[in-house]
Amino acid sequence: MIDVRHLSHSFGPHPALQDCSFHLSRGEVLFLTGPSGAGKSTLLRLLFADLPLQRGEAVVAGFPLSKIRAAQVPLLRRQVSMVFQDFKILPLRTVYDNIVLPLQVRGMDKTHADRRVLAAARAVELENKLESSCVDISGGEQQRVAVARALVVNPRILLADEPTGNMDPELALQIMDIFKKFQNYGTTLIIATHSPELILRNPRARILRLDQGMITQANWPGAILNKFSSAVPLAAYGGGARHDSTEERDG
Ligand SMILES: Nc1ncnc2c1ncn2[C@@H]1O[C@H](COP(=O)(O)OP(=O)(O)OP(=O)(O)O)[C@@H](O)[C@H]1O
Ligand SMILES: [Mg+2]
Repeated sequence: MIDVRHLSHSFGPHPALQDCSFHLSRGEVLFLTGPSGAGKSTLLRLLFADLPLQRGEAVVAGFPLSKIRAAQVPLLRRQVSMVFQDFKILPLRTVYDNIVLPLQVRGMDKTHADRRVLAAARAVELENKLESSCVDISGGEQQRVAVARALVVNPRILLADEPTGNMDPELALQIMDIFKKFQNYGTTLIIATHSPELILRNPRARILRLDQGMITQANWPGAILNKFSSAVPLAAYGGGARHDSTEERDG
């Protein structure tokens, strides 16, 4: 479902991602950790074709991103949703307008779309704010709008960049439970987070740590530690280096 091979990215002379390789199958969840500036957002933006590939390859939902043409990007994004770290919601539009947008793009009829919007809004506890303008709601609520907009399309792949960073812990766990449901339905998830509590809640999850753009820790053999990094097993998260060799690959 996601195959990343020797992916590197630089902003000018500054390397943000260096020689990253990992594979994720359908329905797997990956937590992306690492300090500020480690390259988490860069990696997610590359997988969403929000940044052009410079070096290496990433095959996402069957699309080799090094060769993807501009006209194919909307087709990729029919299958891949992203919750941006800065939300990227339309501030002057209502909560409803923001959540329904990806369904309108797909040409879904209003009755069907409204039902989906209401379900997504309920899941993030925003059903009473649907008519509010997004400038009039809090940061945590705006983040929930971004989460609902990403989930409303039932994506095959969800890329979520600090999706619960502005929420209180209770709500953050609730959002994680929603993500888990999607995982059970086969959605592949990558969640960038600084929060160990969220990671510990999902003991089956893959965990990958980036430092200065390099993979320095991982708990499954589908990730390749950068040869220049000092690799340490991820015992801190209780999982240790779990090497289940029966991993299936679905390309
Ligand atoms: N648009 C950009 N232009 C120039 N440099 C950038 C840009 N985006 C990211 N960088 C740099 O690339 C590196 C990786 O940044 P990135 O945003 O991927 O880190 P991050 O792990 O997501 O950090 P955080 O936890 O703070 O969100 C940083 O050094 C950052 O300053
Ligand atoms: Mg970031």
